[in-house]
Amino acid sequence: MDLERIVFIGRTFDEYMRMFDLQPGELRGRSFLDCPAGACSFTAEANRCGAIAVAADIAYSYSAEALQDKGLADIEHTLNQLDRVRDNFKWDDFQSIEGLKQARTEALTVSTLDRLAHQERYVAAELPVLPFADQTFDMTLSAHFLFMYGDRLDVDFHLKTLRELLRVTKEEIRIFPLTDLSSLRYAHLDELISFIRSQGWNAEEVRVPYEFQKGANSMLHLKRV
Ligand SMILES: C[S@@+](CC[C@H](N)C(=O)[O-])C[C@H]1O[C@@H](n2cnc3c(N)ncnc32)[C@H](O)[C@@H]1O
Repeated sequence: MDLERIVFIGRTFDEYMRMFDLQPGELRGRSFLDCPAGACSFTAEANRCGAIAVAADIAYSYSAEALQDKGLADIEHTLNQLDRVRDNFKWDDFQSIEGLKQARTEALTVSTLDRLAHQERYVAAELPVLPFADQTFDMTLSAHFLFMYGDRLDVDFHLKTLRELLRVTKEEIRIFPLTDLSSLRYAHLDELISFIRSQGWNAEEVRVPYEFQKGANSMLHLKRV
């Protein structure tokens, strides 16, 4: 995998708590997979809160130092692009491009330091295959990957990835958001929900208290029956 081809960016723990509508009491003593985790600080902070959290991403085949440099460059590039379409976003939380830059830089810094201190929490993995045994994690979180890049990742990739997330998860999976980059609901979502239900899981679309990209404010909440 060519490092230039990925964008290494991540959200903060606080953003994850809101986009997945997680309560602090749901963390302690439970095991989590964040996949793909990119430069998110969820894994670092969740472990501090008493969870056993693991991050997986194709990018982790590169060193923490190489990804830190790539991440800093990607923050600059992404925010320049985003500034041109700023009306597509809600600014109540970040207030400004500078506020957003602080949040993205914090997530990158916290996750890099955590990876340097706890290599074992950051696992290189290339979806649709994960290097974990069946039902390893109580809960799996997946943000800004599935459904969002429906123009690049076809429905078969989505199906295989979902099958793999169901396999490695014991209780619950939460996926955010349900829209593509234009805030349109992913075209094959109903088909994928039917597949998930056929595998013995409940699937529910849930409105969450997080909306940065306008219209991207729901998650898919899956529970093993
Ligand atoms: C837009 S980022 C999202 C990161 C994070 N979940 C968030 O919400 O900020 C997408 C991530 O997917 C990773 N990725 C892309 N293709 C992948 C694959 N086939 N398997 C695993 N990770 C992949 C990239 O390296 C990148 O870190």
